[in-house]
Amino acid sequence: MCSHLAATVGLAATPDEIVITSGSQQALDLIAKVLLDPGDLVVTENPAYLGALQAFQAYEARAVGLSSDEHGLQPAALLAFLESSPVRPKLLYLIPNYQNPTGVSLAAPRRAEIVAIAARFALPVLEDDPYGALRFSGAALPALGAFPGARDCLYLGTSSKILAPGLRVAWLVVKDRALREKITTAKQAADLHTSSFTQRIVHHYVQQPGVLDAHVATLCEVYRNRRDVMLAALTRELPAGCTWTQPTGGLFLWVTLPAGHDTTDLLHIAAREKIAFVPGAPFWVGEPVRNTLRLNFSNATDARINEGLARLGTILRRG
Ligand SMILES: Cc1ncc(COP(=O)(O)O)c(C=O)c1O
Repeated sequence: MCSHLAATVGLAATPDEIVITSGSQQALDLIAKVLLDPGDLVVTENPAYLGALQAFQAYEARAVGLSSDEHGLQPAALLAFLESSPVRPKLLYLIPNYQNPTGVSLAAPRRAEIVAIAARFALPVLEDDPYGALRFSGAALPALGAFPGARDCLYLGTSSKILAPGLRVAWLVVKDRALREKITTAKQAADLHTSSFTQRIVHHYVQQPGVLDAHVATLCEVYRNRRDVMLAALTRELPAGCTWTQPTGGLFLWVTLPAGHDTTDLLHIAAREKIAFVPGAPFWVGEPVRNTLRLNFSNATDARINEGLARLGTILRRG
């Protein structure tokens, strides 16, 4: 795991600094349990990963969604918030690579800026990175914790999107020893340990030279083609006024329909046409932008992607 992290995201970690968790979702829960008290603030992108928001809310923390665009969280928004907030947030939660739900990645210059701002305000950063390996083009960017001057950066990876979600094997890098011990104690209280059986399966798989890399390369090729099919279908099928992100990796893209649409209502109409998408509203922190939706491009065949988008286009044109 340590050599994998060094090779893929430039993160130097020792085995002691890694906590194996039962999926990265458990790590989100454990971090929230250990770090967050009722009323604490967690700063994040907007929209943000729903499962993380739920984990933070379960401990009565309050999420603050900051302005984000096609290059990810805006550093100026983070700085302005930290300078003006009377309450210091406890955590900055980010998905810098192919974010869930938007598919957007945090641009390299912004990473350096955000790391510097977080260090200046002694704000711990949790980098959630389930999708980073699913890169279709461009060079891999280092983990936030690998940037010069980074402090208190936690890094979270998982086997879920590169091997199988059912394994429930993930890895959390925690450099701070006191925090790591608290997380380990909380983990023991929750489930004693992550299944040693599935850990052995992952270990058996990854220790064979080149096997994981070859598998990930296959995934990237298949998903890249499906992303291209979906982008072409969106251009062909959706009416004027619709926009969408252009992810360079991951599983998702994010569509914004013309103002006035509510995708939660639209889903019921779509279901009658035997198509589905994820309505955008629950991903927003604060006031939801109701004309947004998340599409997954990795899981369906080209024919089904084309047919699904044709049906969505017909529904939208019907009004
Ligand atoms: C950003 C993000 N974090 C964490 C998870 C949880 O993944 P797992 O618990 O399967 O590792 C997901 C799953 O979709 C995700 O998208």
